[in-house]
Amino acid sequence: MNAAPQSASTTATRQEYYGRIKGQNLAPLWERYHGLLTPEPVVKAVPYIWHYDEVRASLLEAAGLITAKEAERRVLMLENPAFDGQCKATETLFSGLQLIMPGEVAPAHRHTPNALRLILEGSGGYTSVNGEKTYMEYGDYVTTPTWSWHDHGHEGTGPVIWQDILDMPLVHALGPIFHEGYPKDQFPAGAPAGDSLRRYGNNLRPVGYENQNVNSPIFHYPYARTRDTMEALAKDSDVDPYFGLKMEFIDPTTGATSLSTISTFMQRLPKGFQTERYQSTEGAIFTCVEGKGRVTIGDGDRKRTFDFRPKDIFVAPCWDAYRIEADEDTYFFVGSDRTVQQKLGLFRERRGNA
Ligand SMILES: [Fe+2]
Repeated sequence: MNAAPQSASTTATRQEYYGRIKGQNLAPLWERYHGLLTPEPVVKAVPYIWHYDEVRASLLEAAGLITAKEAERRVLMLENPAFDGQCKATETLFSGLQLIMPGEVAPAHRHTPNALRLILEGSGGYTSVNGEKTYMEYGDYVTTPTWSWHDHGHEGTGPVIWQDILDMPLVHALGPIFHEGYPKDQFPAGAPAGDSLRRYGNNLRPVGYENQNVNSPIFHYPYARTRDTMEALAKDSDVDPYFGLKMEFIDPTTGATSLSTISTFMQRLPKGFQTERYQSTEGAIFTCVEGKGRVTIGDGDRKRTFDFRPKDIFVAPCWDAYRIEADEDTYFFVGSDRTVQQKLGLFRERRGNA
């Protein structure tokens, strides 16, 4: 229904009124109502892809510009073109590529945003969480959960590069950002290397264990284990038309997501497979760990088609439908805000064109 036409004098009177109440920090909802409560999500983030071979050269250049210690974290942010200068890949997630060179050590710190890293290149890099060290290999998924001390270093040769994903935009929106540095040149002491994975990652838990934390006690999910499981499952599992084979990383002691604010998945698409159209409210970041193919994301003006290869990273924003076509057996690591939306009762999805 169209609004009744306004006379010039009515418009002028209203504008004068709006100008006057602005001085009281008031504004008329009726002028903004339909922009605020849209029938479906109107999302600012756009579909986008970062090709690893293009980004890598710029990242390596940074090694000559600043040390890991100086930078605290030597990261090039993956900024969605819709969020220039806002440090956001999606509405709720930050992502970046982090570089560490042989012999470098980054200072220990902690912060309230949850963070994860997905290892994309190099060997000999390690992460410590609350003093427990773990060495990271290609495709490994490592968490540094909220308010946990973490630091990292590199005992191997050649550059080590990983992708960071943090819930920072979400926590910024809510407000409770805290950050603290560990005493200079000191590092926390903790459990022996690999302790948490041995203790909680083998269908066992210590007797009487109660999770005191909202996040998983495991902070390292080795790709070799995940991949073996997925390959074995793929041999005798039906292929889901929308997901192929998609498994979620969890806290094995509770079944909850591995991080309280970021859902993480490994997704396998067999060679020649094309997913059916899938649309959901999660803002998702896909990283191709293996394989190649193409993805089409969005409709109308938002529609984009990208070719992806290993280590390429693309964003499928909230409510943009997408289809993925795999030219080879393909593995994606996926990080999204699905778990937050589910906890808040906001999550929606639509399969096919229904
Ligand atoms: Fe950090």
